[in-house]
Amino acid sequence: MSTLFRKILVTCALPYANGSIHIGHMLEHIQADIWVRYQRMRGHEVWFVSADDAHGTAIMLKSKNLGISSNQLIKNVKKEHQIDFVNFNISYDNYHSTHSIENLSLLRKIFVCLNQKGFIHEKIISQFYDNVKKIFLPDRFIKGTCPVCKSENQYGDNCEECSSIYEPIDLINPKSAISGKKPILKNTKHLYFDLTFFSNFLKKWIYSGVLENSVIKKTEEWLKIGLKPWGISRDAPYFGFKIPKFSDKYFYVWLDAPIGYISAFKNLCFKNKKLNFHEFWNEKSNYELYHFIGKDIIYFHTLFWPSILEAVSLRKPNGIFVHGYLTMNGLKLSKSRGSLITASDWIKHLDSDSLRYYYASKLSNNINDIEMNLEDFLYKINSDIVNKLVNLASRNASFINKYFNGYLSNELHNNKLYQYFIDVSGKIENFLENREFSCVIRESMKLIDMANQYINEKKPWKIEIKEKNMKELQNICTMGINLFRLVMIFLKPILPDLAIKTESFLMSDLTWKNIKNPLLSHKINKFTQLYKRISSEKISQLMNLYK
Ligand code: MSP
Ligand code: ZN
Repeated sequence: MSTLFRKILVTCALPYANGSIHIGHMLEHIQADIWVRYQRMRGHEVWFVSADDAHGTAIMLKSKNLGISSNQLIKNVKKEHQIDFVNFNISYDNYHSTHSIENLSLLRKIFVCLNQKGFIHEKIISQFYDNVKKIFLPDRFIKGTCPVCKSENQYGDNCEECSSIYEPIDLINPKSAISGKKPILKNTKHLYFDLTFFSNFLKKWIYSGVLENSVIKKTEEWLKIGLKPWGISRDAPYFGFKIPKFSDKYFYVWLDAPIGYISAFKNLCFKNKKLNFHEFWNEKSNYELYHFIGKDIIYFHTLFWPSILEAVSLRKPNGIFVHGYLTMNGLKLSKSRGSLITASDWIKHLDSDSLRYYYASKLSNNINDIEMNLEDFLYKINSDIVNKLVNLASRNASFINKYFNGYLSNELHNNKLYQYFIDVSGKIENFLENREFSCVIRESMKLIDMANQYINEKKPWKIEIKEKNMKELQNICTMGINLFRLVMIFLKPILPDLAIKTESFLMSDLTWKNIKNPLLSHKINKFTQLYKRISSEKISQLMNLYK
C-alpha cells in the first residue's frame, strides 16, 4: 500500500460554531492529524480540510443571548477555533465555514439535482412548537423521558443512555429547552429526502470495506428498523440557507453540514489552482476520501451522507473512521453536559505534544471511549517522554558535544541492534496506517527501553577518557543518538513540536525514507532541553479552573 503514490482527502467533523473547542473535540483533530502527518511523511499527496458548522437553531439562539448577529458570532468563533487548531499543530490545508459562497452554491446544485431526480417530497406534519418563544422546536431543544429506557432528560431525537432513535412526540413529558414550558403541537409543511429508496444501496455499501465492524453493527441496527424519509427543511426563525421558492423555510443544518466537506475542498481549489475539483469528486475518482468522526454522529455519515452522494452521482468515502468519546473521571464530556477543559485553557497551562502523546497512547481504530486521567497523564508524559525518550538523547549528546566537537562517529557500535529497530519499523508503519496509535507508542517505548538498556550496559560515563578508549566511546554514543533518531522518526506524526526541536538538535530532518541510513560522521548541535517535565502544579492550576 505504502509504495503506491496515493492522493488522499481527509476531513474532521465540522465543529459547531456556537462554542469553544474542548479537549474532547481535539481528540478527533489530533487523531486525524497524526494520520495525515504520517501519510505526508510517506510521500503521499494529502489534503486535510475541515470547517466550522455555522448553521442551526443553537447558533441562532446563542447569538441572540450574546446580543450579536449570528454572522458576527460565527466569525468570532471561527477565528477562535482556528487559533486552537494552530496551537495543537493540526495541519489543516484549509479550514472553512459552512456559511460560505461555495457551500451555498453546492447545496443549491445538490438540492436541484435531488429534486429533479424525484427524491424530494413534501409532507405536512405536526411538530412541537414553543408558544412562548414562538418557535418550532428542533429535536435537540426538546427534552423529556426516553420512551424506551425511561431515562430522564433526554433529547428529542435519540437517547444518550440506550441509543434508541425516536421522534420527539414519542418522548414522555416533553419540555421546551428554551422556555422550559410544555410545547404545543402545530402543523407545518416540510421537505423530505427519500432515504428509504437507498436502503438497498446502503445494505451493500456498508460492507464494502469502508466501516469497522462495530460501526457496521450500529448501522445494521438502523437498517433493520427500516429507514424513513429524512426531513431536510426547517421553519423560520432559523440561521441557515433559505430554500428557494418555499417561503420562510430553511435547509436543515445537517443537509448543508456534510456538503461543507466538499465546499471546504472547493475553496481550497480556489486558493490552489493546481487542484482539480472534478477530478476529486467525480464518481470514479481515484483519490481516496476519509472522514474522521465521533460515534455520536455515525448515522449521519453511514446513512444520510452516502445516500445523498449516491443520489447526485458524487464519489463516496473510502472510509469513515469513528472514534469513541473522551471521558474524564468517568464523566461524559458531551457538548451540553459536564465540565470540559477547553483547548485554549489547556494550552495556557500545558503543551500540545503532551496531549497528542497521551491521546495516541490510548487511541486505536475502534469506538471505545477514552478516559482522560490527569494523574495518569502526568505520569505517562514524564516517564515516557522525559525519563526515557529525551533522556536517551541527552545522556549521549553530552559526550558527543564534550569530547568529539559534536561529531558522530563514522560507524555504529552495534549494527545488529540498529537493524532490529529497522525491522520493527514495518510493524510501526502498519500500526500508523491502521490508526492503531496505542501500538505505535507501545512499540516505540519498547525500543527506547532497549536503547536505554544498551547504554546502561555500555556505561559511557564509566569509560576512562584516554586516547585508546575514545573511538569506543564515540561509537557507543553515536549508537544511542541514532536509536533516539529512529524512534523520533516513528513518533514524528504524534510529536511535531518535539520533532522540530530534534531536527534542529540532530541538524538533520527526520524522514521515513532515510531510516536505513544512520547519521554517521555527522555534526549535531549542542544539546538544549528538548522537553520540559510537567509539574503537578500545572495540572492543579488547570483543574482549579473547572472546580
Ligand atoms: N457539527 C456536527 C458535525 C457535522 S459534520 C458534517 C457536530 N459538531 S460537534 O461540535 O458537536 O462535534 C464535532 C466532533 O467532535 C464530532 O465528531 C463529535 O463526535 C466530536 N466530539 C464532541 N465531543 C466529544 C468528546 N467528548 N469526545 C470525543 N469526541 C467528541 O457534531
Ligand atoms: Zn433510552
